Amino acid sequence: NWTMASFIDKEIERIRNIVGPNGQVVGAVSGGVDSTVAAKLMKEAIGDRFHAILVDNGVMRYKECQNVKAILSDRLGINLDVVDASDLFLDRLVGVTDPEKKRKIIGNTFIEVFESEAARIDNETKQLGRGKIDFLLQGTLYPDVIESISFKGPSATIKTHHNVGGLLENMRLKLIEPLRELFKDEVRALGKLLQIDDELVWRHPFPGPGIAIRVLGEVTRTQVAIARAADHIYIEEIKNAGLYRQISQAYAALLPVRSVGVMGDKRTYEQVIALRAVESTDFMTADWFPMPYDVLKHISNRIINEVKGVNRVVYDVSSKPPSTIEWE
Ligand code: XMP
Repeated sequence: NWTMASFIDKEIERIRNIVGPNGQVVGAVSGGVDSTVAAKLMKEAIGDRFHAILVDNGVMRYKECQNVKAILSDRLGINLDVVDASDLFLDRLVGVTDPEKKRKIIGNTFIEVFESEAARIDNETKQLGRGKIDFLLQGTLYPDVIESISFKGPSATIKTHHNVGGLLENMRLKLIEPLRELFKDEVRALGKLLQIDDELVWRHPFPGPGIAIRVLGEVTRTQVAIARAADHIYIEEIKNAGLYRQISQAYAALLPVRSVGVMGDKRTYEQVIALRAVESTDFMTADWFPMPYDVLKHISNRIINEVKGVNRVVYDVSSKPPSTIEWE
């Protein structure tokens, strides 16, 4: 793919020109393809003058922080800081059941934590005589640019999404968006050329508020652990069945409803896991994925046997619209 290869060279050149010989850049990474590709481009362009920050919000997937660290820092050589703010996030979520409130709390806390980490790095680079942080990296894609231009549309108010606009004002940072002219498939091609693992390049999207919007009702540490364990089994079995790439997005949601079951000779009264898998091109509309019965059967057995607190598994057969991809 020579067009993407020339894009890389041009973009690296452009980044170097914008940032200058001493400029410092911060950016949040999530373990998703967009932020990873953007971060890797920065690393190629300016090396350790790009500072990636991964915020552990306590509602990430199974071993997510470890995995992201292994890939970004160890394998791709990106200068990465992992901030464990999980207690802060989880404490603020106590007693909150409203989906929009969850999103606001997580979004605002994220900005707060990211901003304070960026300020810490800013101080550090100043003290080392390497100048201040001047730029904020964002992995914005072309469709996001379009969406924010038409942000008054009804879709914007259905669910609140994150933004870090405050950071730009408070720290007087300038925005740098190397992916702003690209579509998702182009970002994936770019990722491949930048030697990012296939596994990451083809990863399903994951929402900023994470497992918090996949645990319906109150988000407690116990509930997150149940949803996380079930989701891990689900994704593992989808991969084992060779279906991961065919599916656009899949996850397990924990429903805070209890139903009666039987285990050995004992009655159980436990919660429900709902499995979601969709096919979609733009995530504005989506069809539920026709998961083979034998795969479902195996996943259901594993979840019920291995995840304590669950005695029933259901499969979501709703398309978008009228349902959304996430349950909250
Ligand atoms: P819905 O549930 O609106 O989701 O059909 C469409 C796509 O957007 C993702 N999503 C989010 N991503 N922050 C994000 O970064 C969010 O708050 C958020 N809410 C939904 C969802 O996972 C799906 O891919």
